[in-house]
Amino acid sequence: AAYNKFNEVADYITDSIIPQEEYLTSTLRHNEQAGLDTIDVAPCDGKFLYLLVKMNKVKRILEVGTLGGYSAIWMAKALPEDGKIITCELESESAEIARENIRKAGFENKIEVKVGAAKDTLTKMSEAGKVEPFDMVFIDADKENNWTYYKWALDHASHVGTVLVVDNVVRRGRLVDADSTEPSIIGTRKLFAELKREKRVECTALQTVGAKGWDGLMISMVIE
Ligand code: DHB
Ligand code: MG
Repeated sequence: AAYNKFNEVADYITDSIIPQEEYLTSTLRHNEQAGLDTIDVAPCDGKFLYLLVKMNKVKRILEVGTLGGYSAIWMAKALPEDGKIITCELESESAEIARENIRKAGFENKIEVKVGAAKDTLTKMSEAGKVEPFDMVFIDADKENNWTYYKWALDHASHVGTVLVVDNVVRRGRLVDADSTEPSIIGTRKLFAELKREKRVECTALQTVGAKGWDGLMISMVIE
């Protein structure tokens, strides 16, 4: 059925209009060889993040969930010389792999990997004083804390125009399972429930299909 062509179409799009530097493909290869979960963003998504950075002339990015650094490297590639990414990663092994990928890509001056629970990293940042606001935030970590991360960014580190993107909000449709006991689904539904009454942002969510199955991205912008 046409349904089964998601992968083929993703490959077609990637092969035809998403040329990737060696450092991007080798990052994916390295992450897999190192035994990381192969849950890096797909190339189509990485290029989308890259375009968001360019379209919005983004200079400062917060990422929650580094994994092996593939998405951070895509975004760094779009940043100007003085651009900066702070990316939070729980697992020190993943962070080390990310740092190696980032160094090989030549972006160690643009990407700072902070190891530890993102909640702690973010709390430390805001307790240390006023945080220089981010122009873009990409949340792609433990989904149960989606709202915690999103709210922190809104309360402490954004400005009118800041773009906030959250990965994996559809999860093969499990988003609409109101009775779900899956912490990740509960966490994502919490994000949507909060955004329903959140006046400071305008939002949408786009369903995606492709190499990683049926999922989606929540995209929003701070308006006040
Ligand atoms: C999965 C995919 C992701 O992009 C992610 O951030 C976490 C988990 C998954 O497919 O399980
Ligand atoms: Mg993800």
